[in-house]
Amino acid sequence: MTTSPSSARAQPLQVGPSAGALAAIRRGTSLPVLDVGPYLAGVPGALEQLGADVKMIQENLGFFAIVNHGVPQPLIDESFQQTAELFELPPEEKLKHRVGYHHQGYLPPKSSILQSRAIIDKIAVNTKKDTNSAWLFMRERTADDPKVLANVRHRGLNQWPESLPAFKIALLAYQQAMERLALALLPIYARALELPAEYFADMFREPEYYQRCAYYHPEPSIEEGQYALAPHSDGSFLTLLPMTPIPGLQIMTPSRDWLDVGYIEGALIVNTGQVLNRLSNDRFIATPHRVVNPPGKRYALVFFFYPDDDASVAPIPACIGPGEQPKYDSRSLYEFFVPYLDDLYHYNDKTFMAEAESGKGAPSTTPALESEPLMN
Ligand SMILES: [Fe+2]
Repeated sequence: MTTSPSSARAQPLQVGPSAGALAAIRRGTSLPVLDVGPYLAGVPGALEQLGADVKMIQENLGFFAIVNHGVPQPLIDESFQQTAELFELPPEEKLKHRVGYHHQGYLPPKSSILQSRAIIDKIAVNTKKDTNSAWLFMRERTADDPKVLANVRHRGLNQWPESLPAFKIALLAYQQAMERLALALLPIYARALELPAEYFADMFREPEYYQRCAYYHPEPSIEEGQYALAPHSDGSFLTLLPMTPIPGLQIMTPSRDWLDVGYIEGALIVNTGQVLNRLSNDRFIATPHRVVNPPGKRYALVFFFYPDDDASVAPIPACIGPGEQPKYDSRSLYEFFVPYLDDLYHYNDKTFMAEAESGKGAPSTTPALESEPLMN
């Protein structure tokens, strides 16, 4: 049974976007920066102002940075340190945990071609293997979890490196901190869509997440049209990513230029993906982004936040404007998530990989997606 939040009527915002956020969007040279500290401290009016800012940002750029977010910097630093050590482990140890059916584990460099069908109206189809390596996690589960016992795809046990116990300790704490923050940010998104602040609470009772620890090494033999991480849009409701001083991440602006994401010490990048794009009936964009060959070792601690598996990701009725139709079908988060990942990662599909590299390069035609309109 698919659950969906109670129907709610629009509640117009009481304020407009702040001058700082507006100026950043108009300049278009850097991400808008939002201070969420007053909101998290319960300062009256802070939620409404952030709602107005996020509304304007999500309708234009789809990416911003937050400061004073409450995630302890020592925890972020330790997670980066452990991630750096993870990728220094001997190849044979990492390959014991190679990613497979559940998309949980180690993804070696140059082992998958990232193709994002959701953005093929904006980006040339990628046919090269990404140079980054990654270690992928879903929500941590125990062996007696019903979904583990039933071998539900993408809901298996995470793989942890035996020789690096401190990595597991750091990353579990990191994931829990990010989940707390993401839950705390939900009312901002509800108000940004001019819904009651508690609107999303029913969808996030057992939220799913997907964590991607990535290592972007400088690649001396990168080919024309090859990326550290090829252009794509995230699948998430929202994505959280600590900023790093080593450049490489670029986002697509409304004019389809690529904007280098800068660095602000201690800030987190926030963007939204196809789940919120669907829920908002295209009002909030799932911005294409990519990582180009970095000038130095670059690590990423990406936290993709999703609602419950049985939450509906159909457009919210209050987000469908007068005279508009729903642009997406009715399905649960889980029914969205599996084809989303199959559309993006192709390491399990040797035929696809061979054809893409040989130049045929056709976008994937995952059967579950064929009747669905293209997502932006
Ligand atoms: Fe991404």
